[in-house]
Formats: sequence, C-alpha cells, structure tokens
Amino acid sequence: MSDAYGQLLDATIQHLEDLKSRGVRSVAVSPEVLRALAQPVTGRDARPARPPEVPTLKSDEPAARPYQKPRAATLLRSPLPPAGQASLLALPGETVPNQGPLLDPQAKAAAFAALRERALACVKCPHLASSRKNVVFGVGSIDAQLMFVGEAPGADEDEQAEPFVGKAGQLLTKIIQATGLQRADVYIGNILKCRPDTPGQSAGNRKPTAEEMATCIPYLHEQIDLIRPKVLVALGATAVEGLLGKTLGITKLRGTWKTYRGIPLMPTYHPAYLLRNQAMSEKRKVWEDMLAVMEKLGMSISEKQRNYFLKA
Ligand code: URA
Repeated sequence: MSDAYGQLLDATIQHLEDLKSRGVRSVAVSPEVLRALAQPVTGRDARPARPPEVPTLKSDEPAARPYQKPRAATLLRSPLPPAGQASLLALPGETVPNQGPLLDPQAKAAAFAALRERALACVKCPHLASSRKNVVFGVGSIDAQLMFVGEAPGADEDEQAEPFVGKAGQLLTKIIQATGLQRADVYIGNILKCRPDTPGQSAGNRKPTAEEMATCIPYLHEQIDLIRPKVLVALGATAVEGLLGKTLGITKLRGTWKTYRGIPLMPTYHPAYLLRNQAMSEKRKVWEDMLAVMEKLGMSISEKQRNYFLKA
C-alpha cells in the first residue's frame, strides 16, 4: 500500500469514527468512492486481500475480515442516497468547525485530483452538462492561504476551462496583484462549476438557481476542506449565499467578517459590479476589504497600498 493511500485511508477512517462517536449515523457517498474504499490493497504492507465487490455498508456487519482497523466503508450505514456525492470529509449541512483530516502533500494532491476528475465527469445537472463546453473546476495553489469564491463561469471561463479569465476576471487578477500576490499564489473557485445555460439567448449570463447551487456546492465544500485556506473571500451575493446560506444583501454584508466552518470569510463586491459601477468609492470599499484580508493573513501593507483609491 502506498504511504499516500494509507494516510488517506487512515484519515478517512479516523474522520468516520469521529463522526460515529458524535452520533452521526449516515453519510452520503458516491458509488465511485465506495468502490475505491473497497479496493484490494497491494504492496509492501498490504493487509490481506479483500473481495472486490462493493460492501453492503452495514455498520453492524460482522467483522468477517481480520484487519487491524475497520475499513472506511464498513463505518458507513445504508441507505446509500440515490444521487449526490457528498464529501467524506464534510457532510452536507454539517456545521462542525473541524475541516477534515490533515493530509500529507502527496495524499492531498491525490485527493484533489480525484475530486477534480469527479467534477469534470459530473452530469448531475443534465441541462448544464449538455450546454457547457467545459467544467470549470478551479485554479491556483491547493496550498493557498487565500481562496476566492465567485458565482459561476461565464462564456470566457466556459471556453477556457478556467475561472475568472474574462473582463471581471482580469479585474480580479489586478486586485490580487495589488496585494502583492499572484493568481498562482491563491485559489480561485466558483459556487457552480458549469456555466448557467441561457437557452434561446446567444449571449448573457444568468444567476444560478437554488437547485443548481445545492447540487454543485458539495464540490466546493470538498475543495475548501482539502485546501484549508486561512481566509476565504466571497465575491458577490451569490458566493455568500452559496457558502453561508441566505443572509443580508451584499451591500450590508461586505466588509464584515463572517465564518465558514471555522474559516474567516470576507464578503465583498463581485468584480463585475465594479465594472458596472466605476465610482472610486466602490473600488475603495473592495480595497478596504482586501486590506482587512491582508491584515488577517499577517501580510505586510505599505503606505502606498493603504492609500489606494483615497483622494489626494
Ligand atoms: N464571474 C464569476 O463569478 N466567476 C467566474 O469564473 C467568472 C465570472
């Protein structure tokens, strides 16, 4: 068994045991995850081979196999939900400050790659799966301390399979660079991984529906669980709603720290809003939010940075 796989398995088992001890009786898992958990282990310190079939998932299943530790799958209880692929590291709706087990870099990269593969093959919203050119999973460092969350890909992002590459994205890149960071230093994702379709229209965007958001959000939860950023920035009302649920409007929320599962979250305006409203005062508000983020991250701030967008 590779070290990375072993650590991932141990961390998963540990997390499931923690949940069980807290009274959680079921978690949603995809058939692919179940198959992965049931796979025979080979190699250096392999445990005895196990049957390849998907397990029955009864937690009271008799201990038929002589393993030292329970397999992750046997800690789960049926019924398996018919659809949906909730994270093993984050139960849908669960409000725990804990963000899941810490993985070593290799296991983390492997888990992130597996998550990406699942998202790229997703067809849970058939209308979006058929209209999209690409699934726009996310971009940046999976070790980022700072993660930005937007709403959904637009036409440019759908075309290039990368979030925030259109006009609003170019402005976001400038904002990131103004802090002294580069795009590659942070992670950028969206609430929705597919471009919202606009049937009958040749251009334009639409806000994701509540159903689309609920269907897609587990991918973002898993991304955040794995990346474990120190600070989240939610760009616009939809991003805040996707992460925190319906609250106040973005005008009231921006500039005030919130918490997403123990992670400080700063709501701010979406860069597309700044493109529509060119007032210096609005740019300054977003910049003040970024200064607060930089302070939270312990970044140094120059006098020049402090004074951006202030009238001379
Ligand atoms: N707007 C978003 O919210 N996300 C993108 O990726 C692009 C534009």
